[in-house]
Amino acid sequence: MEAVRSPAEIESMRRAGMAAAEVLLLAGEHVEPGVTTDAIDEVAHAEVLARGAYPSPLGYRSFPKSVCTSVNEVICHGIPDSRPLVSGDIVNIDVTVYLDGVHGDTSAMFCVGETDAESARLVAETLRALRAAIGVVAPGVPISELGRAIEAVARPGRLGVVREFVGHGVGTDFHGSLQVPHYHDASNATPLEEGMTFTIEPMLTLGRPQVELWSDGWTAVTADRSRTAQFEHTLLVTADGAEILTLTADGRCAHDLAVAPEGRGG
Ligand code: MF3
Ligand code: CO
Ligand code: CO
Repeated sequence: MEAVRSPAEIESMRRAGMAAAEVLLLAGEHVEPGVTTDAIDEVAHAEVLARGAYPSPLGYRSFPKSVCTSVNEVICHGIPDSRPLVSGDIVNIDVTVYLDGVHGDTSAMFCVGETDAESARLVAETLRALRAAIGVVAPGVPISELGRAIEAVARPGRLGVVREFVGHGVGTDFHGSLQVPHYHDASNATPLEEGMTFTIEPMLTLGRPQVELWSDGWTAVTADRSRTAQFEHTLLVTADGAEILTLTADGRCAHDLAVAPEGRGG
């Protein structure tokens, strides 16, 4: 299987994943009203280089920056720019680093200043959906079960699930051929295997999940301009479950900052 990694590659992916988690935490510390996404990109770029890594997005299919920053109605692949964040914004920072010949890919939502209740609910439920999907990962489980778990969180909350962008195999390639839909796609019953590495990165919306693309060719927004949230981890399938590769050495990640203390963990 293309997505099954060698033990040496897995060791490298632990290092790349850890670096990505560290950079995401540091980049997130700079989120506050008045800060531009360009400034966040600069911080992340410097922190990636400081770890002897390369920022995978920079130059990838001509993407111009080192991270993606996706604000409010931007679903994913937002390009950092000169707009200052304002109180009430929600922003996803998506960090991918290339280290030791492999990629580590992780993203989180950050709330700017005071957040309205619906946006806070969207962010919390999107994180809960990612954790639910991680919870079903184990050898032999059909990939379609991950999307089913995400929909089981989204549907009762009347949240949309974006279909156009999927999780992906990750390793020596930034985007491997393995596809991980975030909705229940019964036709994708490929069983997970021990040693596979891939991302889960659900994008949930307060309104309809239909996508429009800006003329920059990258920025994906909700067609109805409703707000949207995303969290992403890089995972390894272990003998009895999943190992999250995008954590710091002491097991932390930026996801812990996105929810109230009683909801933290994982
Ligand atoms: N990191 C994104 C993902 O989760 C991909 C970004 S591609 C870029 O797959 F070119 F926009 F950076
Ligand atoms: Co990804
Ligand atoms: Co990513």
